[in-house]
Amino acid sequence: MSQLDQRIADTRATLERIARDFSPAVFASSLAAEDMVLADLILRARLPIRIFTLETGRLHKETLGMVDRIREKYGYDVELYKPDAAAVEGYVKANGLNAFYDSVDMRKECCRIRKVEPLNRALAGNKAWITGQRRAQSTTRSGLEVQENDEAHGMTKFNPLADWSEQDVWDYLRANEVPYNPLHDKGYPSIGCEPCTRAIQPGEDVRAGRWWWENPETKECGLHVVDGKLVRIKAVPAN
Ligand code: ADX
Ligand code: SF4
Repeated sequence: MSQLDQRIADTRATLERIARDFSPAVFASSLAAEDMVLADLILRARLPIRIFTLETGRLHKETLGMVDRIREKYGYDVELYKPDAAAVEGYVKANGLNAFYDSVDMRKECCRIRKVEPLNRALAGNKAWITGQRRAQSTTRSGLEVQENDEAHGMTKFNPLADWSEQDVWDYLRANEVPYNPLHDKGYPSIGCEPCTRAIQPGEDVRAGRWWWENPETKECGLHVVDGKLVRIKAVPAN
């Protein structure tokens, strides 16, 4: 068995265990490449795990288009969690539509309204949640475990692709003809909200295009908390 076949078998086993022992469980999908691997494994096996996306209102049209691709290919409707309309309106009225460029605090407040609060709503009442994070994505993710205790949300958190490489992700997607976000072919290895993501140049870190105007130590959106602390997204050197 190749190393990738072994990783696929292990990931299938993890997902089956989650469905069996951690019901109800949900999968948070950003609709990017890693998350399409997990969606494919969950949907092909028809596992009773709900898939949702935090529809921040600022995603690229290509990203939102993946919701349609998933419906076409698997006949599954990804659930969309939207921010509280009054909170968005209040923020935009007080600060302008793109105030996140002005300061780290403004950026974090936007992420709180558009991502963190909807995430809390999406997770409520579940026993476990699943993410597509990988250890190799950044130094802060180097200690990532497949199964973690998420104290902040009071539930178990699974990162079934923790030990997958970027190559594994792409080998899986191509071998299984899984649809993927077309932005990945345009210099976007990591995709978040449209105004906060840019394409990267060859040789740049894979996360260099996320909140590129900020220092690495402030780059976090509040979705991932470890040991009660927000995870700082620090870039891995490119070499
Ligand atoms: S982030 O913290 O910088 O935004 P990243 O884009 O690497 O994270 O995604 C890591 C994981 O967080 C994804 O695999 C997914 O599980 C979850 N995630 C990120 N953005 C979203 C989103 N908009 N909706 C649902 N889940 C998301
Ligand atoms: Fe707002 Fe940017 Fe955070 Fe999206 S990533 S919620 S647009 S600050």
